Amino acid sequence: MQSDSIILGIESSCDDTSAAVLINGKVCSNITANQDVHRKFGGVVPELASRAHQSNIIPVIDQAIKTAGIENQQISAIAVTQGPGLMGSLIVGLNTAKSLSLGWSIPLIGVNHLQAHVAALFIDHQVEFPMLCLLVSGGHTQLIWAESFTHTEIIGETIDDAVGEAFDKASKLMGLGYPGGPIISKLASTGNAKRFQFNDSQVGPYDFSFSGVKTSLLYFLRDEKAKNPEFIEQNLNDICASYEISLIQMLIKRFKNAIKDKKPKSISIAGGVSANSALRSAVMELSAKYNLPAYIPDFQYCTDNAAMIAKAGQFLLEAEKFISYDALPYSRS
Ligand code: KG4
Ligand code: ZN
Repeated sequence: MQSDSIILGIESSCDDTSAAVLINGKVCSNITANQDVHRKFGGVVPELASRAHQSNIIPVIDQAIKTAGIENQQISAIAVTQGPGLMGSLIVGLNTAKSLSLGWSIPLIGVNHLQAHVAALFIDHQVEFPMLCLLVSGGHTQLIWAESFTHTEIIGETIDDAVGEAFDKASKLMGLGYPGGPIISKLASTGNAKRFQFNDSQVGPYDFSFSGVKTSLLYFLRDEKAKNPEFIEQNLNDICASYEISLIQMLIKRFKNAIKDKKPKSISIAGGVSANSALRSAVMELSAKYNLPAYIPDFQYCTDNAAMIAKAGQFLLEAEKFISYDALPYSRS
């Protein structure tokens, strides 16, 4: 009888320490420790992130294993984020995974964090290929053409900021806190999205640019505040709704261009910004318009999590793609 495939996933590329156990493709635990320490700085402080990972990582792994109800010796492979991400944060995760792999004599798999965001789609969906995926996170905005999980091509990407950054920077500008995406999205839900206009950039057809829209928000707020110092507080929901819809339309316009030209069999979104309700609705509209299945990750698999690392690990285990103990983390993709 074939033994179970049990994968321990470990993620520590940015500010979330996460561990998950996947048994025969099914997520049996997914434990994440968020780091509140960055909140007062309005963004992730790399040195503080590494230190918090160092104190969180063993308890998080321990809890993931206990919640799944397995013993260490049953684990078939340890899958860990190797990059891209913050170097200090990656080092903590990778070195912990190496130690466990060595101590428990379990093979080690290095996972690309971006590929893992796409792998998150496979947790709950039977994917039809070729798939066109819009990957939207705090560090990346890409249109990915996928013939299979391992055969992918980036057909478009941002030439400057990522869309998650455009949310985070706008939030900082308005003094709303970090991470900005969920805060802006919540405020936007009761605002009038047609009230203010923020212009799209000229890049395309599949590439993105978000630095211009962020700057236009900056100047808009500066000019309005000069006339009325209370402008932001008095119009917060409408500003957030108008800014959010501009970002979503910029994404959808390129997504549509690629759907029309490339004719995929399915479409999907992945990454932290795929938790955004307005984006999720817009993608469902595209799905109906072009009569294509759309895969949208469950909320727990949108932002950084180890279940997606374990899922990517499953494919790499099937392909027998292991890494050795001298493998290094990489900060850029
Ligand atoms: O994928 P992720 O957790 O980390 C990276 O790999 O970067 O993405 C984090 C990004 C942040 O920029 C955050 O503001 C954004 O995802 N985000 C959202 C929402 N939830 C998280 N943006 C818009 N709406 C949301 N609901
Ligand atoms: Zn991520």
